[in-house]
Amino acid sequence: MAERGPENEAAAALLRWYDGARRVLPWRALPGEVADPYRVWLSEIMLQQTTVAVVGDYFRRFVARWPTVEALAAAPLAAVLQEWAGLGYYARARNLHSCAHEVANRYNSQFPDNYVQLKELPGIGAYTAGAIAAIAFNRREVAVDGNVERVLIRYYNMATPLPDAKPEVRSRAQAMVPQDRPGDFAQALMDLGATICTPRSPRCPQCPWGSACAARAAGTAADLPRRRPRPARPTRHGFVYWLERQDGAVLVRQRPARGLLGGMTEFPTGPWGETPVAAPPVPARWRDVPGTVEHTFTHFHLILQVRRARLTKPAKIDGRFVAPDRLDDEALPSLMRKVMARVLAG
Ligand code: ADE
Repeated sequence: MAERGPENEAAAALLRWYDGARRVLPWRALPGEVADPYRVWLSEIMLQQTTVAVVGDYFRRFVARWPTVEALAAAPLAAVLQEWAGLGYYARARNLHSCAHEVANRYNSQFPDNYVQLKELPGIGAYTAGAIAAIAFNRREVAVDGNVERVLIRYYNMATPLPDAKPEVRSRAQAMVPQDRPGDFAQALMDLGATICTPRSPRCPQCPWGSACAARAAGTAADLPRRRPRPARPTRHGFVYWLERQDGAVLVRQRPARGLLGGMTEFPTGPWGETPVAAPPVPARWRDVPGTVEHTFTHFHLILQVRRARLTKPAKIDGRFVAPDRLDDEALPSLMRKVMARVLAG
């Protein structure tokens, strides 16, 4: 039998706590249930960059509409993007769809059960491969995201800032994974980070690790993790065009498949840069809509001026016209929903 070190004690204490305190989540198997790899995978992709609270309803709608990976693979990409609208980071939805295809075609609709093969699939990086391998297949893998980093940096009272601390955190996490129940261990770390070891005001008195946590003992928990200062987000500016046909239908286009908001529907918008550059889809009497639309992406902040015009005669224009009451059915990203709200607010 392997020697029992402090890591084993920590893992055992965490699992005991988890048995009493685990969160009930729509994608999570109940105690004694076998995890469904499709649901585990789908939830992990949705949870990349999005919170548990937001993902819940999306997850339920997806599994109601596409209960299996075959069903999702058979769905048109447009339908998947439409269900995804609002979750952001649309490359995830395109990768989700290609991944479903690959699992259906190459693996006979059975997700591979190990880290290496999972990580080769579209949209599955180190974190997600570890999470699926552990949660769906009980492999001794770790899933280290920002929450788990915080938990471990505190437990070991690590002064190294993020992201420099990442490799050390990863190896310490790997060393803590227990022989049995690695899937529960991964989820227990997530729950500890979400409910006790929170970014601000951690609830140390309720923590299953008690005084074994070095940061708690040193009184530094609330100040960790440290972060290397990140470069400021630049602000970009542009125009977006709301063109109405005589019957009230509005011009939309498809964004290119690759890149930001790839494949989504948009109202025509010119280049986004340091200063706004006009690029109307047709010459018309464009008028500024009062106010602006602002949206923050990962790498920049965007301010758009909305301009609107009405076509007075039929014209040949790139794109398609959609009746205003059908716009809700389009795969409009949040940015474009804000544009719509801006116009409707006058
Ligand atoms: N965050 C990322 N994956 C998660 C999961 N499976 N459960 C809860 N929170 C998560």
